[in-house]
Amino acid sequence: MDIFRIHGGNRLNGSVKVSGSKNGALPILFASLLCDGEVTLQNVPIALRDIGMSLRILETLGVESEVAEDGSVSLQVTDSGNTRADYKQVSQMRASICSLGPLLARRGEAIVSLPGGCNIGDRPIDLHIHGMEALGAKVTIENGYVMARASHLRGSTVYLSGPMGPTVLGTQNVMMAAVGADGDTVIEGAACEPEVRATAGFLRAMGVKVEGDGTHEIHIEGQGRLEGAGCLGATSFDVPPDRIETGTYVLAGAIAGGEVTVEGCIPSENSALLNLLERIGVSVEVGEKTLTVRGVDTVTPVDVSMLPYPAFPTDLQGPLMALLCRGTGVSLITDKVFPDRFNHLSELRRFGAKVRKEGPIAIIEGGAPLSGAKVMASDLRASACLVLAGLVADGITDVNRIYHLDRGYERMEEKLRGLGAEVERLPEQVVEQDLDLELV
Ligand code: EPZ
Repeated sequence: MDIFRIHGGNRLNGSVKVSGSKNGALPILFASLLCDGEVTLQNVPIALRDIGMSLRILETLGVESEVAEDGSVSLQVTDSGNTRADYKQVSQMRASICSLGPLLARRGEAIVSLPGGCNIGDRPIDLHIHGMEALGAKVTIENGYVMARASHLRGSTVYLSGPMGPTVLGTQNVMMAAVGADGDTVIEGAACEPEVRATAGFLRAMGVKVEGDGTHEIHIEGQGRLEGAGCLGATSFDVPPDRIETGTYVLAGAIAGGEVTVEGCIPSENSALLNLLERIGVSVEVGEKTLTVRGVDTVTPVDVSMLPYPAFPTDLQGPLMALLCRGTGVSLITDKVFPDRFNHLSELRRFGAKVRKEGPIAIIEGGAPLSGAKVMASDLRASACLVLAGLVADGITDVNRIYHLDRGYERMEEKLRGLGAEVERLPEQVVEQDLDLELV
C-alpha cells in the first residue's frame, strides 16, 4: 500500500485540470449493459481504481472493454448469459449495485451481491429494491445477494426518497431498469445531482426519452423488453467533469494558495461551495469553465449542513473541514446525508487540530497550529481532507492507505506537484524503514 509524503508549507500556484466525473462515469459504465451496439465514452477517469474495478465486474457480465490512454473507453456486450455480479468484486464498490437495473431490464434477472464501498456509515439499498419492485420485479435477499427477477418490467410511478432524502445511485438504478419496462415510469422524490443528469444524458444518447432530470420528478419512456429489434444501438457520450474533484482543488487553493485555477469544470455545479467560500472570506473568480481561488490564512467561522444537491455536498465535507481548521472561531458542520461520515476527525487531531463530534455535528475550533503527522486514510474523501491539512501543516505528513484516494482522485500527487506542492508517493515498505530508523 502506497503512502503520500507531504512537506507542508509550499504555496500553491498555477492551473490544474479536472478529470471526468467518477460518480458520473460509474453508472454509465453499467448502463452499457442495456446496449447492443458499441458504446464509446470519452473523458472517463480511467486511472481511478473504481473505474478499473467496474470494468472487471462488467467483464464477468459479458461486456468487453477497450481503454485508450486519452480517457476513452469502448464497451460492447458480447455475452448476455451471466446475470450474477459476485461478492468478491461488488463488495468493494457501492456503485456496482448499478448493475441491478440494467441486468433486470436486459436479461430479466439480476443476482447482485450486497455492495460495499467507502466506510462512511450505514448504506442501505432498500430504496433501490423498492424501485425495482415498483416496476414489477420480485426481489429477495438470499445469502448476501439481491436476487431480482422479472419476465416483464412494467412502467410505474415510484417515490424514491427515504429518511435521509433522495438516493443518487437508487435514482440512476431505477432509471436504467425503467428503460426496459413496458410503459413509462415516473420517479418522484428523485435525486437532482448532476450525476443523475449525466445518466439521463447517456440514456438520451441511446435514443431513450428522458425528461425532468435535474428536478425531483423524472419521466422515462419504457422501451419494452430490450431484445431483438428492440435493443438499443451504438452510442457515444462525453462524461462531464468531476464537480467533487473541482471542489477539492478549489479548497486546496483556499487553504494553501497562492492563486489556483481549476480548469475544465462546470462552475454552476459548485454554487453551494462558492457561496460558502464567499461567506467565509475566500475570493473565487468564476470563468466560463474555470474557477480561480486565492488562498487565505484565516477564514470566518461558519455553521453549514451537508444536504442533497444543490446544497453543500457531503463529498466535500472532509476537505471543507481542513479549511475550517483555519477559522478565527468555532465552526459547525452537520452531515445530514451521512451523519457518521467523520472518520477524518480523529486523524485531524494528530495534526493538532481542535475538532470533536457531537452526534451528526462536527465542531471545529479554528486557529490551532497544524504540524505534520503520520495519519491514516480511512475513506476516499477523508483522505482528501488529510492531504489538504498536510499541505499547510508545518513539517512532514505521511498519509497512509492512499489506495482510498486512488479510488476517486486521478494522479492527485502529480496534480498537486504541478501546483507547487511537495508531495511524493512512496511504497509503504520505504516508510516502514524510515520508521525503524526513527525508533533506533
Ligand atoms: C452517491 O452514493 C455517491 N456515490 C456518494 O459519493 C455520495 O456521497 C452520495 O451519492 C451522496 O451524494 C456514487 O455516486 C458512486 P445515496 P449513494 O443513495 O447513491 C440513504 C464518493 O465519495 N439511503 O444518495 O450510494 C443513504 O444511507 C461517494 O464519491 C437509504 O436510506 O448515496 C444516505 O443517508 C461516497 N436507502 C442517503 O440515503 C437507500 O436505498 C443518500 O445516499 C439508499 C440510500
